[in-house]
Amino acid sequence: MSVRGNSIFRDRWAIRCIALTAVLFVAIAFIGLVLLPLLQPNVKAAGLWDAICSAAGIARKPTNTTPVAPDFKISSVVVTPEMLDTADAQSIGRGATLAHQCAICHGPAGFSRADSPNLSGQYASAIYKQLKDFQSGARSNAIMTPFAAKLTDQDMIDVASYYAYLPRLPEDRTRQVIVAPQIVSNGAPLRNIPPCGSCHGSIDHKVGSPWLQGQPAAYIKAQLQAFARGQRNNDISQQMRNIARQMTPQEIDEAARYYSSLSQSAQLTGR
Ligand code: HEC
Ligand code: HEC
Repeated sequence: MSVRGNSIFRDRWAIRCIALTAVLFVAIAFIGLVLLPLLQPNVKAAGLWDAICSAAGIARKPTNTTPVAPDFKISSVVVTPEMLDTADAQSIGRGATLAHQCAICHGPAGFSRADSPNLSGQYASAIYKQLKDFQSGARSNAIMTPFAAKLTDQDMIDVASYYAYLPRLPEDRTRQVIVAPQIVSNGAPLRNIPPCGSCHGSIDHKVGSPWLQGQPAAYIKAQLQAFARGQRNNDISQQMRNIARQMTPQEIDEAARYYSSLSQSAQLTGR
């Protein structure tokens, strides 16, 4: 029996279905491989082909070796574990004099009463990095930027050494103790969030991560929101942006409230 007469190409509906499937295929490939990769706010592709390959997960040899520059300033500070470890008395003394101009906001003893971050007992490397970033424009803040602009590299080393040398406020037993929220004590492994203290101190310290205990809640919350939105983007390799983006608004609130409820020298206690 001949099947020629039954060829699906004679059936108008079959042809329509095939055409519709083909159109859908092309449209979906365009949306998935071209449109969405190019619209991603956190990824910058070198070109159309680059976007297609990265969306399809195809590893390629880079054709040009110049990295794709983001459209904002990134931090140029190189942080090393031993950086500013060996501050001498002269440097700390010079830092103390320089710190007079900072006292109005950061407090005479490095403890702020005006929702500016506390600096007493902060890691010297963290202070130095932030000052460098304010000066270069990698981190910007209308209030802080003009103060960093005037400092020389040595001034920043000295003032960072001075604040790191100041003691953290001791434990205040009368404060209400809040139990560490899940996001702080355990992180969220399924969302790639390690416990905060694994970088920020108390569990372990990853160089360049500031000490958070006792910082004002409003400050912590504002920084986490700024990282999540990409408005603060001076964190090297997006360490904090990748974390903050994955946090829920409630987790941001809980972490801010918890860290601010601790006295500066408190160590974290898990559940
Ligand atoms: C007029 C108020 C004011 C003065 C004066 C001031 N700062 Fe600040 N500083 C701020 C505020 C507000 C922030 C938080 C900025 C933000 O929200 O991004 C800040 C942030 C910082 C940070 C970042 C801290 C962190 O944990 O990330 C450092 C370091 C710092 N200031 C050091 C200094 C030093 C050193 C001086 C003096 C040379 C100084 N500041 C003078 C208001 C001030
Ligand atoms: C992988 C390490 C890492 C982990 C985990 C981490 N952070 Fe950070 N965080 C950093 C680094 C590094 C910085 C400093 C970024 C920069 O260079 O400006 C930072 C900065 C911050 C700041 C701004 C502090 C300041 O004074 O400028 C806040 C607030 C913060 N982190 C909160 C958190 C919270 C809450 C968690 C847990 C949910 C967390 N971080 C987990 C590495 C980490």
